[in-house]
Amino acid sequence: MNKKIQITETVLRDAQQSLIATRMPFADFKDILPEMDKAGYYSVECWGGATFDSCLRYLGEDPWERLRKIRAAMPNTRLQMLLRGQNLLGYKHYHDDVVEKFVELSIKNGIDIIRIFDALNDFRNIKTALEATKKYATDRTVASGCISYTQSPVHTVEKYVEMCKELKTMGFDTICLKDMAGTMSPYEAEHLIKGIKDAVGDMPIILHTHCTTGMAYMTLTKAIESGVDVIDCATSAMSNGTSQPATETMFYALQQYGIPCGLDEKAINAVNDFFKPLKQKYIDAGTLNPKSMGTDSQALVYKVPGGMLSNMIANLKDMNAMDKFDEALAEIPNVRKDLGYPPLVTPLSQMVGNQAVINVLMGERYKQISTEVKNYFKGEYGVAPGKVSAALQAKILGEGGKPVDCRVEDSKRTGEEFAKAKEALGDLAQSEEDVMSYICFPDQTKKFLEERKVKEQNVATYTIEEA
Ligand code: CO
Repeated sequence: MNKKIQITETVLRDAQQSLIATRMPFADFKDILPEMDKAGYYSVECWGGATFDSCLRYLGEDPWERLRKIRAAMPNTRLQMLLRGQNLLGYKHYHDDVVEKFVELSIKNGIDIIRIFDALNDFRNIKTALEATKKYATDRTVASGCISYTQSPVHTVEKYVEMCKELKTMGFDTICLKDMAGTMSPYEAEHLIKGIKDAVGDMPIILHTHCTTGMAYMTLTKAIESGVDVIDCATSAMSNGTSQPATETMFYALQQYGIPCGLDEKAINAVNDFFKPLKQKYIDAGTLNPKSMGTDSQALVYKVPGGMLSNMIANLKDMNAMDKFDEALAEIPNVRKDLGYPPLVTPLSQMVGNQAVINVLMGERYKQISTEVKNYFKGEYGVAPGKVSAALQAKILGEGGKPVDCRVEDSKRTGEEFAKAKEALGDLAQSEEDVMSYICFPDQTKKFLEERKVKEQNVATYTIEEA
């Protein structure tokens, strides 16, 4: 066991992403930020993942401005983001110069810890983001190499230990095991963490899991006993279900172990008190679906992460097809096997989930194949962990068709994407951050910037009239 185990608070990113599909506006949580700043967390995960997309698409917020406001309100806390390597925060691969610029701007706007992962654990896809993090690092910057944890015939403890050695060699500062589906058992946590600790020595190990299947508290307990350094938790009101284990609960458990975690009891309880009425508001508004709050031991079979489950429920509801929920859930492992056992994490979780829904709704498997699945088979996402279905590959690429190497395309540094985006935006863009948002989410960003312009013009008119 460690002498000290620290806690990352996820309420502003993963907890709200998993429970309420990332619909928490800045205005809802801004007043608690000064109190959170006193809590003594290892870090606060507050940006990246789906927050960027959601800010522009649903909340009418500038994600960069959100980050700067959080930074200003929490000067003493390390702010953490989740970055999907070469995908950044979007759903496709970007060129290396775009990835580098994105990392530069993230650090410039206030991010301290960049947790970088690739959905397929194809580490060629996280190398550019790592190098950019090191290039633009301040004395607070931490590059965290993250492994998408999943279970399959091709994912063994030995394989994970090898991956961790590689992350160390690449130059990452910490290693995070990301169990997005919450399917890691206590037994597996013990074997993994002991194995990894033996292999990488004093490199800090972080465990990120979800309560989806009910395993998380037991898994964290074993992880604590096996030498984990940091655990991800969410304030009680926004914990459990598809979210993380509760911060306060783990605080009291660690206290009984006699392990300090550096948290201020008064502050973490105040944070929880703040989020309690918000949770009720989300339940009343239907933003928080009771299905996301329960324990789903079936996920131990289907390996479905929380965010994916809440998205699938939302999609099926939109299509008035909730009666197909169980059938779609059962189709997921089949699609996953056909794709060579990719971990179910963004964007692969959406890809596998959508294709499973299509297969069920069409009444015939792969009658329709999504563009994303086609691109996956073309090799645009990287190398699949296991063997893909030969029949499906032939159907998509033609007989004897072979996937391409995604890195050849990604490594181009043409500067074109930036120049094109800047030109497309014209006077709508006021900063490099605006241009970057447009590169990641063109339609949403354009709409957002147009609305911003109208608002600014209204304010200008109003001010003149006032004068
Ligand atoms: Co997560």
